[in-house]
Amino acid sequence: MHQAGETRTAKGNASKGIDSKTSQQINKIIEATDGQAGAPIRVLQRVQGLIGYLPREALEIVSREMRIPLSELYGITSFYSFFSMVPKGKYVIQVCLGTSCYVKGGQRIIDSLNKEFGLESGGITPDGKFSLQTVRCIGCCGLSPVLAINEDVHRKVKPSRLKEILGSYR
Ligand code: FES
Repeated sequence: MHQAGETRTAKGNASKGIDSKTSQQINKIIEATDGQAGAPIRVLQRVQGLIGYLPREALEIVSREMRIPLSELYGITSFYSFFSMVPKGKYVIQVCLGTSCYVKGGQRIIDSLNKEFGLESGGITPDGKFSLQTVRCIGCCGLSPVLAINEDVHRKVKPSRLKEILGSYR
C-alpha cells in the first residue's frame, strides 16, 4: 500500500532518486534557513524549486536533518496546494471538477484523458510532457466545462476536441 505522499505517479512509475549532489544542495538549503521562522515551509519551497516537486526521498532528508517527523512534513505538503509530491509535466493540465463543470461534463474529460492518453489524475505521461490535476472552479463557470493547460484556459471543452487541444502543445 502506498503511504500518503509516496512519490509514485498514478501510473505507478517510481520517482527519480536523489543523487548526492542534490542531497548536498538540500542540506545547504536547510543550513541557510536554520532558526528562521517558518523554516520547514521555506525549506520545502526551496527544495521543490530545486527538484521541481517533493519526492519522498527529499522529504526524508529534510525530516532527518531538521529533526521533524515525516508525518508533519506530509501534513504541510498536503495542506498547501503549491506543494506537489508528484512530478509535473512540461504542460500541467488542470481539469475543473467544480459543480458547474462537473454537471457539464468535467468527469467525461477526465475519463477521456485517461482512456485516450493514459493520463490519470495526479499522473504524468511517460515522456513527461503532460501531467493531470483536478481543480475546483477556476472562475469561468459560465463557459464550463473548462480545462487549463499551464496559463491557457480552454472553455466549453468537448472530449472529442482533446486530441486537437493537446496536439497544439509541442
Ligand atoms: S466550476 Fe469550473 S470554472 Fe467554475
